[in-house]
Amino acid sequence: MLNTIMKSKLFGWVDRRTGAEAIIKSQLTEYPAPKNLNYMWNFGSLALLVLVLQILTGIFLAMYYKPSAAMTYGHYTVAFDSVERIMRDVNFGWLIRYMHAVGASAFFVVVYMHIGRGLYYGSYKEPRELLWIIGVVILLIMQGAAFFGYLLPWGQMSFWGATVITNLFGALPVIGEYLQQLLRGGFAVGDPTLNRFFSLHYLFPLLLAAIVGGHIHALHVVHSNNPEGIDLTKDEEKIMFHPYYTIKDAFGVAVFLLGYCYFVFFNPQAWGFFIEVDNYVPANSLATPAHIAPVWYLTPWYTILRSFPDKLMGVLAMGGSLAILFALPFLDRSKVRSARYRPVFKQMVILFFIDVVVLGYIGHSPVSPTLKLIGQIATAYYFAFFFLLLIVPKFEKTKPVPEGI
Ligand code: HEM
Repeated sequence: MLNTIMKSKLFGWVDRRTGAEAIIKSQLTEYPAPKNLNYMWNFGSLALLVLVLQILTGIFLAMYYKPSAAMTYGHYTVAFDSVERIMRDVNFGWLIRYMHAVGASAFFVVVYMHIGRGLYYGSYKEPRELLWIIGVVILLIMQGAAFFGYLLPWGQMSFWGATVITNLFGALPVIGEYLQQLLRGGFAVGDPTLNRFFSLHYLFPLLLAAIVGGHIHALHVVHSNNPEGIDLTKDEEKIMFHPYYTIKDAFGVAVFLLGYCYFVFFNPQAWGFFIEVDNYVPANSLATPAHIAPVWYLTPWYTILRSFPDKLMGVLAMGGSLAILFALPFLDRSKVRSARYRPVFKQMVILFFIDVVVLGYIGHSPVSPTLKLIGQIATAYYFAFFFLLLIVPKFEKTKPVPEGI
């Protein structure tokens, strides 16, 4: 189909003025990719798909949503009500909202798999350090966008989640109180908070789209890593992106859409776990829910925060646990990239994945002394992983790395 389009008169006209054909060939159809990429390399294109889905569904939601905490009928607030109206009165409003809500979780599933792949196969290592760093910026913006978005339905969990998180900024010395008020637009979470969160929630995905452009450009300069983690020197080791990886990516998209549609149509609340229940009660500043927890994709960091008795320490550790991702390419100096050939690193990274799941589970559960202790141990390993990376390459006996694929 692409060939037919490229042969058309209209395309020829555009091409003579933009050089579009050369760009499409060098960056897409004839882009050389390693011939041995496995299904873990599907998550980048899936992340792109979900980003587009989120922006499109978000635009339609914004046509009906009203970011106002003003009261109507003495009880329901305008924002909460407008979401209910989308669900009940707007044609296919329920579908667009569920696509967006399930899409938020899907986005994190896909991107966490994408990051995990990068960690396991050493894709963060030279020469892909900047590509990885841009990825971490993307992750932070995604987390910000999700946090801002969660306030918008103006339910109990929205309100109290935003209250707890904005409160944390207050713990920072000197600028803390100012930052907290700047975020809230006042002393407490209220109408001004809702307005600025809506504004930023709209802005962040557009920023993401631009930065993802940079991410892909950076990838195309250094080219993809591969499961062996080796540099490719021969042409026989590469294949054209089209049709090989367009077909493979399309297959990944089909499998993804099956799961996505299952959740959108049959189980839209599944990814919200039990916190969604509280979010069907309009925000009430006078009644704190018994259990406040962020959505699953933020819970690992929430556990790190809660693992420290001192609030400031908790905030710094939480910030540090994300910031340390920027330093990863410079901490791990091993010459071998892929965990396939690094026996010690392989155990460490698998334990790290389990560790993050444990942190996530604990952040989602009500506090108990046992869970708190497990959370503290898991937090300790989270940081230890990065420091061990400084030492392990010094003694690790790596397996012989193949010369080609
Ligand atoms: C909106 C989110 C993102 C999108 C749309 C995206 C897109 C992509 C695409 C299309 C690729 C090439 C295909 C692939 O290797 O899977 C890629 C590669 C890569 N991405 Fe992302 N990405 C996102 C987030 C991230 C994040 C959060 C990180 C890391 C923290 C990251 C790190 C990388 C790395 C290191 C590669 C090169 C992988 C390799 O060649 O082995 N990306 N990304």
